Amino acid sequence: MSVANAVHGVERPAPVRDLAERFRRIRAFSEELSRPLAVEDYVIQSMPDASPTKWHLAHTSWFFDTFVLAASDPSYRSPDPRYGHLFNSYYESVGERHCRPRRGLLSRPTVEEVFAYRHHVDRHLLALLDRAMQGESPEWLPLVELGLHHEQQHQELILTDIKHAFHANPLRPVYLSPLTPAPLPAGQRGLSGEERELSGWISYPAGLREIGHDGPGFAFDNESPRHPEWVAAFRIDDGGYAQPRLWLSEGWKTVAAQGWEAPLYWQRHDGEWWTMTLAGMRRVEADEPVCHVSYYEADAYAQWADARLPTEAEWEVAAAECPLEGNFVESRACHPRAAVDDGAGRPRQMFGDVWEWTRSAYLPYPGYRPLAGALGEYNGKFMSNQMVLRGGSCATPCDHVRTTYRNFFPPDARWQFSGVRLARDE
Ligand SMILES: [Fe+2]
Repeated sequence: MSVANAVHGVERPAPVRDLAERFRRIRAFSEELSRPLAVEDYVIQSMPDASPTKWHLAHTSWFFDTFVLAASDPSYRSPDPRYGHLFNSYYESVGERHCRPRRGLLSRPTVEEVFAYRHHVDRHLLALLDRAMQGESPEWLPLVELGLHHEQQHQELILTDIKHAFHANPLRPVYLSPLTPAPLPAGQRGLSGEERELSGWISYPAGLREIGHDGPGFAFDNESPRHPEWVAAFRIDDGGYAQPRLWLSEGWKTVAAQGWEAPLYWQRHDGEWWTMTLAGMRRVEADEPVCHVSYYEADAYAQWADARLPTEAEWEVAAAECPLEGNFVESRACHPRAAVDDGAGRPRQMFGDVWEWTRSAYLPYPGYRPLAGALGEYNGKFMSNQMVLRGGSCATPCDHVRTTYRNFFPPDARWQFSGVRLARDE
């Protein structure tokens, strides 16, 4: 029995204690991600899809405030009842909200007040968890778990949104100290360009496969139920921007309308491509995975390469054989890395580095049921006009992602760490 347990005189149920430790760690990591910023950086919003860091820090606190604290304790009081209006993202059933594209106009509450809000929520939530350790497992406990995964989603958004904001600044501010490539693990070496061309096609036989989540452990509602899918035999593994025959019609229109000629953040200097990273501008490295491409660009690249994007079922079948490890936010690189030859004969980099666009529309699985109540709005209502991405990125916390995890974005979105994996029919 630990000292803390002895003080209360009872053996604490381990899951609640673990949850409290994870709560502390994950909440602290959001603040750690914010630390390199100057106070002015917290407030700006560079486009309607991106939110200020200050808003992310407050909104993730509002989530616990509303769905756990206020719902479970009638005596609980939020520090300011108006915060609900400012920091509700899209929950219609919880009430009216501040307009999303105008989040950057909120100079008040101040950054300091938002941190005070976070610490208020932390104190009350930890006290609630402490009380829960004394008795039966309360019914709101899974909502704390959901709130932590929600916070981790926003940790990635803090990074992608501040990268977009810094790119909008001609000074190209640096968020991280300049990237130093991590040494490769012993016995491994990077692949040459020629080796990458020749390698990477792994065959999978046709068959009835199961995909989706079936416990134990946390998963979002959109990953269930686990269900069979027929998967036909398949194989999984420069310059297509000016050829309309390679593009989906909507994609080509977007290329023309937006003037795209390279991935987001690429810029030409003296005949060389440079790119914005969270460590500032640097030359594009030819052996690093391309990122910040839309679904349209990923699909057009696949056409150019005489291939296609994998379906999400194919991706999950291939990923099921891979260890859940890779270049996640914990590596502190916040930038994709070149592939490494690990000699394992499995697809490389299925996890981490870049989210991989699939050709699957984001739709409910057969038998899908959204969560009850307001949290039913978390995932289900976005199942239209978006595509599924899989595998996590260099900005995703490692313990946030799973083989069954379904990320989703509109096909023209480019500001996430999104990239390409190819597939071919067998
Ligand atoms: Fe959110």
